[in-house]
Amino acid sequence: MVEVNGSYDGMSGRRALVTGAAGGIGGAIVEVLSASGVAVAAVDRDVDGPADEGRWFGKVVAHRADVSDPDQVEEVVDAVERDLGPIDYLVNCAGILRPGEVLGMSDEDWLDTIRVNATGVFLVSRAVVRRMVPRRSGAVVTIGSNAAGTARVNMAAYAASKAAVTAFTRCLGLEVARYGIRCNVVAPGSTDTPMVTALWTGGDAERVSIDGSLESFRTGIPLGRLARPADVANAVHFLLSDQAAHVTMHDLTVDGGAALGH
Ligand SMILES: NC(=O)c1ccc[n+]([C@@H]2O[C@H](COP(=O)([O-])OP(=O)(O)OC[C@H]3O[C@@H](n4cnc5c(N)ncnc54)[C@H](O)[C@@H]3O)[C@@H](O)[C@H]2O)c1
Repeated sequence: MVEVNGSYDGMSGRRALVTGAAGGIGGAIVEVLSASGVAVAAVDRDVDGPADEGRWFGKVVAHRADVSDPDQVEEVVDAVERDLGPIDYLVNCAGILRPGEVLGMSDEDWLDTIRVNATGVFLVSRAVVRRMVPRRSGAVVTIGSNAAGTARVNMAAYAASKAAVTAFTRCLGLEVARYGIRCNVVAPGSTDTPMVTALWTGGDAERVSIDGSLESFRTGIPLGRLARPADVANAVHFLLSDQAAHVTMHDLTVDGGAALGH
């Protein structure tokens, strides 16, 4: 169970679709929403369906889908609306990280990164927001990254994909503002999830992230710790809620100050 910093009025009984729900941040988002009484469709390429629903508590249905496959996306969004009802909230959280320098990067790593992180957000957002428009309500949060706005060694493909979805989500927010649909971005910095811990080679890797490293041009994390998945989930929770009713096209960085306020 993640730390849930309160609940927001008006969320109970609503329905959310969260992609990347089997991951560290996605899992925390499912739990935070579920604790607010939201029925959640947990979508991930790494879930097997109902057998997996025990991972989460509350009203959660699990759907296996690859967000970068247009047919699977249409099928899963249809199934969620049929089984759960109209989707009020979409969280685009599925993502991959293939670190590496540009000069040695394979075509495959570049294309896969763009396909999942950028095209995936486009496909799921298009499918869900098309259904929100006639209902004239809905909120979308896309998980970007502080790497979208700050150059990082070994992160070119990932940063480019996150810059793309940040711009995409803002433009979508502009197009659908007239229907009362809000679209925002949450941009985490280093967060304690498998995506980051999988990269740790030495025992002091967490310390290096926090302290920074001149060699890799990283300034460290001024607040002195990695983000916990709940830190990111709580920001998503607020932006989806009616308490953020006048917030759209915003990019909220949750990185303990690592990008120095950018
Ligand atoms: N952990 C960090 O430091 C960090 C920092 C900035 C941004 N982010 C972003 O946060 C999001 C969540 O990352 P995380 O740290 O929880 O990583 P994670 O690896 O724990 O979770 C990512 C999830 O996305 C799923 N996924 C990947 N490709 C998919 C596809 N094609 N279709 C459906 N599901 C797919 C994976 O199965 C996994 O469950 C990602 O978008 C990531 O880029 C993470």
